[in-house]
Amino acid sequence: MTLSIIRSGAALGAEIAGVDLTQPVDDATFAKIRDAFYTHEVVFFRGRRLSDEDHIRFSARFGELRKIKIPPHYKRECPPEIHIVSNIIEDGKHIGLYDAGRFWHTDGAYFINPHAISILNALEVPEKDGRVLGDTLFASVTAAYNALPQAMKKRIEGLQVVQSPTVRDRKTAQTDGDRDPVRVAARAKMQAVHPMVRIHPVNGRRCLYVSEGYAAQVIDMPEDESNDLLAELTAHCVKPEFVYRHNWRLHDMIMWDDCSTQHKATFDYELPLRRRMHRTTVIHGNA
Ligand code: SIN
Repeated sequence: MTLSIIRSGAALGAEIAGVDLTQPVDDATFAKIRDAFYTHEVVFFRGRRLSDEDHIRFSARFGELRKIKIPPHYKRECPPEIHIVSNIIEDGKHIGLYDAGRFWHTDGAYFINPHAISILNALEVPEKDGRVLGDTLFASVTAAYNALPQAMKKRIEGLQVVQSPTVRDRKTAQTDGDRDPVRVAARAKMQAVHPMVRIHPVNGRRCLYVSEGYAAQVIDMPEDESNDLLAELTAHCVKPEFVYRHNWRLHDMIMWDDCSTQHKATFDYELPLRRRMHRTTVIHGNA
């Protein structure tokens, strides 16, 4: 099999074809995958059903994986490295997170050591009239940074931002009410401060690190000014020219860079249409 990289045509995103991830990948193949990933920021593999074991083995090549503590009101039967994102309910309990990705965000931005990479494997996809629903959108925040006017680049250099999940939890409560009070309470005190412009640890690109889901406050800036700046920049990050929209196929596995991209899910389906995704998270990449 020959590995090939097919670019999406958008600012980010590429398919990697010709690799069988049901088997361990050799070092030379892994080096090509890694290189494609850090070039295109989002890459995906199609056409093979991958078990949790395949998924974890491949993910662990990129670094240490996060083990998830799932709250008791979720039903979960899978290894701790697997985080389920799903609308499925079994025995009256959600089997996984059912509203992940409602707002644009980067995974784990509210941790002191934010996540490096997320890898999502499609085990069940909702299909209607021959089309798979539940697309995921990805935005390149390196492209967004590069496109900023010089004056804005200068203005934001050195700024620090508080990142907190309470931003998205408040927005969710405004539109949908208290959807998951147990999780919301558990996350209420989580927050971290990060540079507004992060330097990517692997490729050195400048990444605009603000999202509508988590960017709470610019440090040492009056609240009104901070709100205006964050609104302007978070809207800028997700302009159509920086976005790749992934229309899933069953058994797709897609991985994204949590420093150089943001993502958002599309909630255009509901039960009885089932969607089940398994996600691994690389905490510290092997830079
Ligand atoms: C996520 O935000 O991690 C989930 C994205 C999706 O389900 O499409």
